[in-house]
Amino acid sequence: MSGAPARITAPAVAARKGSGEPLVMVTAYDAPSARVVDAAGADMILVGDSVAMVVLGYDDTLSVTVDDMVHHVGAVARVRPRPLVVGDLPWMSYHVSRDDAVRNAAALVRAGAGAVKLEGGAKRLEVVQAILDAEIPVMGHLGLTPQSVHALGGYRVQGKRLDAARAIVDDAMALADAGVFALVLECVPDGVARMVTDSVPIPTIGIGAGRHTDGQVLVYHDLLGMGPRRLPKFVRRYATLEADATDAVGRFVGDVRGGRFPSSDETYHMTDEMAEGLGLYGVATP
Ligand code: KIV
Repeated sequence: MSGAPARITAPAVAARKGSGEPLVMVTAYDAPSARVVDAAGADMILVGDSVAMVVLGYDDTLSVTVDDMVHHVGAVARVRPRPLVVGDLPWMSYHVSRDDAVRNAAALVRAGAGAVKLEGGAKRLEVVQAILDAEIPVMGHLGLTPQSVHALGGYRVQGKRLDAARAIVDDAMALADAGVFALVLECVPDGVARMVTDSVPIPTIGIGAGRHTDGQVLVYHDLLGMGPRRLPKFVRRYATLEADATDAVGRFVGDVRGGRFPSSDETYHMTDEMAEGLGLYGVATP
């Protein structure tokens, strides 16, 4: 047995419901970000399809493929982090058929995910069931589901009307009955998040859903202040890494142009003997 702390599993996350200790999930998309999230003590790393915007430069999540997600899940998993690695199933990877959904979920597991996440409620129950039947833990995602951006008409708070709020609660209960181990609630009023949290026996993980959830998730680059994205009000910035990095690289640029880099200490010097042999002191030897 290794001395490394036990890795967190989906059942262990599910068992935290009602423990009073909030769950923390942070996205990561590569080895350095996974190492940071692991060392910071988070419970779960979400390799989110938000990689599309924060890393790959797309305007939305719709261009990301299963191959992209496999690539990023693999990079995170190779760090062997303690947090549960949750791989996001991208748009169109579970919308066409159950077989497709199971195969794509398996590809993320083979890349190193311990669970997959997919968006949507009642209309996704069949694929949720099929993935669960393949012994792959599934995390649900309700409220603002970014893969539905065109159908929703933009990125907006969901569940503001009574019928919409009830539909979210019904979807959450249906997903929990189906066996998902946890549920992301994105951009819903806090009262709706509280109703869902009180109605399901699995942990709810909020993003823009207020305090009444069993845990919180934020996007790595958002909380560290990396990237030009205009941030929604629910993001709290804990650092200004983009500004810090720009400043650091700018100082390097200035040092090179100003002749201050590299210094003598940052240089490999040849011996005087060798320099003489090469004629660098003007004493050419045959
Ligand atoms: O892809 C992602 O980062 C997500 C979170 C916003 C929950 O799905």
